[in-house]
Amino acid sequence: MIDRPLRIAVVGSGPAALYGIGQLLDAADADAEIDVFERLPVPWGLVRGAVAPDHPEKKAVIDRQFAHFLRDRRVRFLGNVEIGRDVSAAELSDWYDAVLYATGADGDVAMDIPGETLSGSWASRDFVGFYSGHADFSHLRFDLGCSRAVIVGNGNVALDLARMLTLPLAELERTDIADHALEALRGSAIREVVILARRGAAQAAFNNPELEELEHLPDVGIEVLDRGTIAAADLAGVDGVVQRKLQTLRRLHARAGRPGDRRITFSFLVSPVEIRGAGHVERLIATRNALRPTAAGFEAVPTSETIEIETGLVLRAVGYRGTPLPGLPFDPVKGVIANLDGRVADGGRVLPGMYVAGWAKRGCRGIIGTNRKCAADTLRHFFEDRRAGRLRPGSLDRQGVVDLLRARGLMIMTHAGWTAIDRAERRAGRRCDRPRVKLTDRAAMLECAGLVSARA
Ligand SMILES: Cc1cc2nc3c(=O)[nH]c(=O)nc-3n(C[C@H](O)[C@H](O)[C@H](O)COP(=O)(O)OP(=O)(O)OC[C@H]3O[C@@H](n4cnc5c(N)ncnc54)[C@H](O)[C@@H]3O)c2cc1C
Ligand SMILES: NC(=O)c1ccc[n+]([C@@H]2O[C@H](COP(=O)([O-])OP(=O)(O)OC[C@H]3O[C@@H](n4cnc5c(N)ncnc54)[C@H](OP(=O)(O)O)[C@@H]3O)[C@@H](O)[C@H]2O)c1
Repeated sequence: MIDRPLRIAVVGSGPAALYGIGQLLDAADADAEIDVFERLPVPWGLVRGAVAPDHPEKKAVIDRQFAHFLRDRRVRFLGNVEIGRDVSAAELSDWYDAVLYATGADGDVAMDIPGETLSGSWASRDFVGFYSGHADFSHLRFDLGCSRAVIVGNGNVALDLARMLTLPLAELERTDIADHALEALRGSAIREVVILARRGAAQAAFNNPELEELEHLPDVGIEVLDRGTIAAADLAGVDGVVQRKLQTLRRLHARAGRPGDRRITFSFLVSPVEIRGAGHVERLIATRNALRPTAAGFEAVPTSETIEIETGLVLRAVGYRGTPLPGLPFDPVKGVIANLDGRVADGGRVLPGMYVAGWAKRGCRGIIGTNRKCAADTLRHFFEDRRAGRLRPGSLDRQGVVDLLRARGLMIMTHAGWTAIDRAERRAGRRCDRPRVKLTDRAAMLECAGLVSARA
């Protein structure tokens, strides 16, 4: 048994990590010291780095809960430190009594079609990271000079992208969108956004509230091609959630728009098979699909009919996906850290003292709040293991960890450093009536926190 306060490392600072920390702090039997390792200089994971700028209410969880957890005297933020690169997973397990991995997903799903890597064809993750001011994507340059963009995929990310490409600048200018993205959108020539779904409207992955938001887009007409897929007759025998989405699509379709408006076109039962262009995307070739019932629902099967869509920008919103973290077992089918209900496991054998929560545990599904229960489910096992004496005491104390990190020449972003960035961003935002103006590159973040000079 460990008879001193527990020393726990949490890797990541997105929702799964923060809900986990909140639960550890709340637990009566855990007077823990918690070190939070984050590879970026700034916290909050996808809430800062992906949740759409026009959704400030979704980010309110930061001020309402997450910031309190990070400020707690038992918690220490160690940003700008990447586990698997700056510190190995084995070292972390040696230093701490337990490690909770909440590293999300840092890859995306490919369509595996010819032309996918042409200039002008992007993963949604790239464009999302770009407009969110995520430091890994700030250097990207998007050519928005074409009149039509195509989004492949039919989930909530696809809807985010469609809104970002069609929202009036005046609305975006009031958000925390990255300045470089605002600049790119100012020069956008895009008049139409086509959303391609391989299956029908009844199988769409997006949620109804997110779909309903399109009704409030000013100066945007909406069209649903293949109206059969949303016909009233189709509603018989369909569950309530799906019925609401089909009803919303029917209402949206009635928004014809005025001449000169931008437009969003939903096209169902269509699968891209090739992207063509001389060096840059010029057109997307797709097959029309039919639906075939399966034990799990319906799958898309290609027909012999093909269509061509002229476009200069293809964004594939077909899912995010985890990649292996060096030193940890990886489940290549699910794209997650291999685990048994949140206990990290190698070939079915539990690795003591190592846990995983969030997208890194269950794959890239679920909203911010889903990670609360996910973290709680994992931590139940942690508490069980603790009570059963299955945790092995870590070898370093608080000072020992920092000494070792400094000896490696790492520039550690502390909570005070992050607070300096947060204040600077909010101050800049107040000057132009925005929630914040984000710092978007590492050097600027480190300099703002007093860690390095931009000229160094
Ligand atoms: C485009 C998009 C928009 C979304 N919009 C919404 C929305 O409006 N509302 C909603 O409820 N949900 C939304 N979601 C879903 C929500 O963001 C996720 O459910 C949630 O962020 C997953 O939490 P997580 O902690 O598992 O992962 P993440 O939020 O990805 O956090 C993982 C953290 O770990 C860090 N990390 C990774 N590897 C390492 C390492 N090796 N060392 C140290 N740190 C590391 C990462 O930098 C990151 O900070 C959206 C998702 C996407 C992709
Ligand atoms: N506002 C919000 O709350 C919000 C915003 C953004 C994201 N999120 C959440 O974040 C998670 C990830 O969202 P997501 O949109 O990336 O994923 P998602 O919900 O899984 O949707 C992925 C979409 O891509 C399609 N797809 C997959 N592979 C394809 C292929 N090869 N060709 C064509 N289409 C393909 C899927 O179609 P099939 O159904 O046919 O497989 C599906 O329509 C979700 O849980 C989502 O709810 C929430």
